Amino acid sequence: MKKPILTLLSLAILSTAARAEEGPDFAKEIAPILEASCVKCHTEAKAKGKLRMDTKEMAMKGGKESKLIVPGKPDESSLIKVLLLDPAADEAMPPEGKAPRPDAPKIELLKKWITAGAVWPDGVTLKSSEPAK
Ligand code: HEC
Repeated sequence: MKKPILTLLSLAILSTAARAEEGPDFAKEIAPILEASCVKCHTEAKAKGKLRMDTKEMAMKGGKESKLIVPGKPDESSLIKVLLLDPAADEAMPPEGKAPRPDAPKIELLKKWITAGAVWPDGVTLKSSEPAK
């Protein structure tokens, strides 16, 4: 009679732990940042720097010169690196004045998402929240 209770208990503990490790929710917390600041220039129609961020497959592939997302390693992910550059630098993203720059709490969320393994559910695609100019 004790076993089912123990099993239930350990399942509850395990699922809480799994949730804590998952990090920010992609669709709710991460996608809106990328859709507001990046996707208008990095999509199928307009792949600046040969980089697309609209599908998981393309985002994980990265750009001409860099890996956008290295799961578990925000410091090696150009997604984070370009956001930490001086906004006036040539490689800083988004290019100055062209899209809203994610603020520090948003950059922190992106870092946490990558640290937690950059979970991007299959089939979730991103659309710019602003039409390309
Ligand atoms: C207004 C258009 C525009 C927006 C918005 C924009 N980018 Fe870019 N991005 C570019 C252009 C243009 C290049 C190519 C620069 C070059 O090749 O010198 C580029 C290149 C890059 C590269 C280098 C790709 C490589 O590996 O060679 C990365 C990484 C990148 N962008 C990330 C981002 C991220 C992250 C965002 C959102 C925070 C973003 N970009 C928003 C225009 C944009």
